[in-house]
Amino acid sequence: MPLILGIESSCDETAAAVVKDGREVLSNVISTQVEIHKKYGGVVPEIASRKHLEAVNAVISEAVERASVTFDDIDAISVTFAPGLVGALLVGVSAAKALAFALKKPLVPVHHIRGHICANFIEHKDLEPPFICLVASGGHSHIVKVCDYTEFEVLGRTRDDAAGEAFDKVARILGLPYPGGPEIDKCAVDGREDFVKFKKVSFGEGNYDFSFSGIKTGVLNYVNNARQRGESFEIKDVAASFQKSVVEVLCDRLFEAADKCNIKKIALAGGVAANSRLRKEVEMRGKGYHIYLPSLGFCTDNAAMIASSGYYEFKKGNIAGMSLNAIPYLEIDNI
Ligand code: KG4
Ligand code: ZN
Repeated sequence: MPLILGIESSCDETAAAVVKDGREVLSNVISTQVEIHKKYGGVVPEIASRKHLEAVNAVISEAVERASVTFDDIDAISVTFAPGLVGALLVGVSAAKALAFALKKPLVPVHHIRGHICANFIEHKDLEPPFICLVASGGHSHIVKVCDYTEFEVLGRTRDDAAGEAFDKVARILGLPYPGGPEIDKCAVDGREDFVKFKKVSFGEGNYDFSFSGIKTGVLNYVNNARQRGESFEIKDVAASFQKSVVEVLCDRLFEAADKCNIKKIALAGGVAANSRLRKEVEMRGKGYHIYLPSLGFCTDNAAMIASSGYYEFKKGNIAGMSLNAIPYLEIDNI
């Protein structure tokens, strides 16, 4: 029953967790910087690195303490090394390297998006590959065939903005604070979904890529035109219409890809998987499929998912040396 310490610092959360056997969370500590970045309307990379540096040691110690174990009990140290903000990643990677060296423990490199997918193993003890996973976060939007715990095939990806990025940009257009995803989710609850019709792009049969820039520009044009004409509108109606379009595009491609692969197990992952409208739509279309949704805290960035993925990478023998570096861009299926 290996105990894995996971460390995550790819964006604006400094996190550490201890996970047993890949699926049982003994501790899960997150120090978020969201309030700091809010005033800039997005993550400022230099500030993120500095804040990670200030928090990382205390967060790791707290994770070990809360798990009621000692550093000696830990079997391996897993860390997000890619993709993400390079300065932010470097803080977690350096902390993990120092610990692995001092404690003489194996160092396991984890791909952040693989981590998001593995968040599903924590709460769904019965979930085993193969399954299809929609990963939609602030930096990535992929439809992935999870062939095995450490084997992934990307079936479709965004051609422009990630879904979360589109939510954040549209929130900014509508004057909502950062991060925009949860704000749009809340604001859209009693908005009219058919208030504005946005053009949805499809790349043809058998292609599972998607694009959100047209929908995002549609919102910008709608808002600018209304303002120029002096017409008033309710933000909640535009938010609800935008959200519906994004959710439909994601779900169309997700279910088409699952059907093409003849796989009946579908999971969601990443921050946008916390979206209430997306979860509802997937459940609604998911009759006849097994649908796996992580709870909200396991959709957004955390280190338990990194320890879970780390466990499977460790079992596979994926151990890094002290030359491990942070990589800002790296495909999930290119490791
Ligand atoms: O996975 P995540 O925590 O970080 C990255 O790896 O990027 O995802 C953050 C993204 C942000 O863009 C945020 O606006 C979005 O997830 N998000 C949501 C919701 N909660 C977070 N988007 C839509 N609806 C939500 N409820
Ligand atoms: Zn993430």
